[in-house]
Amino acid sequence: MKSQNTPYQKQIFVCTNDKKGEKPSCGDHKGEAIFIELRRIAKERGLHPQIRIAQAKCLGQCSTGCNIMVYSRRPDAASGVGTPTSSVLQETSEPDNVWYSGVSLEDVPQLAQKYLP
Ligand code: FES
Repeated sequence: MKSQNTPYQKQIFVCTNDKKGEKPSCGDHKGEAIFIELRRIAKERGLHPQIRIAQAKCLGQCSTGCNIMVYSRRPDAASGVGTPTSSVLQETSEPDNVWYSGVSLEDVPQLAQKYLP
């Protein structure tokens, strides 16, 4: 096993779990559509893959969906892996480590403005 700093500048995990109405889930709040839209914006802005938009298949807080976690590499992390090539990315390298709940599709522009500038 090898340990290293994250290869990404930032990771945004979007819960896309859909329990099809059997129990509350992020699928009730369009988790997959939120994931797709954030990833589309990241790619369109040339931020992918330095900023990785990833699906999570349940973050354990199903009744408060849609849930999103944002993790950033520490600015002082010296991994040598995935070193940002864009000055824009370097400017946004401050730690976030934020959990969002109750996210809706209408919140995507605000999230994109904050995390995908
Ligand atoms: S379904 Fe999203 S946190 Fe469990």
